Amino acid sequence: MIIQPKFRGFICTTAHPVGCEYNVKEQIEYVKSLEFSQGPKNVLVIGASTGYGLASRITAAFGYKAGTIGVFFEKQASAPKKTASAGWYNSAAFEKSAHAEGLYAKSVNGDAFSNEIKNQVAELIKKDLGKVDLVIYSLAAPRRVDPVTGEVYNSVLKPIGRDYASKTVDFHTGEVTDITIERAAGEEIKNTVAVMGGDDWKLWMETLKSQNLLADNVITLAYSYVGPELTHPIYRDGTIGKAKDDLEAAAGEITGSLKEIGGKAYVSINKAVVTQASSAIPVVPLYVSILFKVMKNKGIHEGCIEQMSRLLKNLYEGNLLLDDKGRIRIDDLEMRDDVQEEVSRAWNMVNSDNIKDISDLEGYRNEFFQLFGFSINGVDYEKDIEIEIGIPSIES
Ligand code: NAI
Repeated sequence: MIIQPKFRGFICTTAHPVGCEYNVKEQIEYVKSLEFSQGPKNVLVIGASTGYGLASRITAAFGYKAGTIGVFFEKQASAPKKTASAGWYNSAAFEKSAHAEGLYAKSVNGDAFSNEIKNQVAELIKKDLGKVDLVIYSLAAPRRVDPVTGEVYNSVLKPIGRDYASKTVDFHTGEVTDITIERAAGEEIKNTVAVMGGDDWKLWMETLKSQNLLADNVITLAYSYVGPELTHPIYRDGTIGKAKDDLEAAAGEITGSLKEIGGKAYVSINKAVVTQASSAIPVVPLYVSILFKVMKNKGIHEGCIEQMSRLLKNLYEGNLLLDDKGRIRIDDLEMRDDVQEEVSRAWNMVNSDNIKDISDLEGYRNEFFQLFGFSINGVDYEKDIEIEIGIPSIES
């Protein structure tokens, strides 16, 4: 089939398997260009198919030669014409490359919030690895079904307390418009915390601990974001920020529960990057477009793989930057005063006429297309290709 990108808002409903494989291989090559010393041996990544989770898995496997189990919720292709999701193709490419180098890599596709998937993963660890010494929790999900009550929680991206007026961009057209986002109402804060907070991370760690699947001195990581004041009303002070507060508080509880085996839970504050999750947040794509321009001009631009390899190297090779709340900070370059001063100046001026000059909208849009395997140099998009690609460890 010849595959074209098809958009519905900030979602692309098609994905290109060859492009996705290129993306994964490029990240692998980047990791291989770095030097790693001692690190994790058996790693579980929850949310392993795209964005920060995929980059974490690639770093663990190709940097530290770790065996990895990846958990994700992706769609396989369906005949005759529906492509798989990008995360499916990414994971197929990842496993193929890992196996070619003799690395252990298996994947579990299903709802990570469910008891069924937790138990399936526990069985797999027991059977194949014995124990894991690093657990990475990198889920970004719009909804969660409570595994005990069956209640469905939907997360929202809204300000709290008052409506929020700001600017946003349609990154397909470059049109900058004013928007007002209504404040969260009713149970929306609580529901967002239930989806994106720390509850499910704790449940994963309890499941693994109770079945004796965590190695001594195990480390577990989850990811969060702080960002500058201009995004605070929609992010850090909004519904998602409340969920992140809850996630960050869970790190302390998990560390307490891992005391006997010397385990430690950290939240890492990562920088803003283009992923499927971040492109869904109002205001953020405009901020990220401006941020990219500033960071690229200063020669300090980073994507997921640069961030994740820096994170794991700092963690295992001893250069951990912690803030006063005990969180790892690898958003240090994004948050530098000189970077944020320039972003803020551009933010105040930006409109539909000057956006192409004062932001890297083109770079943002390209990275967005690339998430789905499009806009990649070297891929022949006119070629008729097979869309039904299997993930080696998953029987379809
Ligand atoms: P993403 O959308 O690229 O990846 C989400 C992952 O979660 C995918 O592997 C997906 O398959 C998986 N997933 C979603 N629902 C699932 C379910 N029910 N069961 C199993 N797997 C499921 O997201 P991204 O941006 O990499 O986010 C990961 C974490 O990093 C999130 O906690 C996010 O808040 C955080 N973060 C993201 C930043 C950004 O700019 N993108 C910045 C700082 C932190």
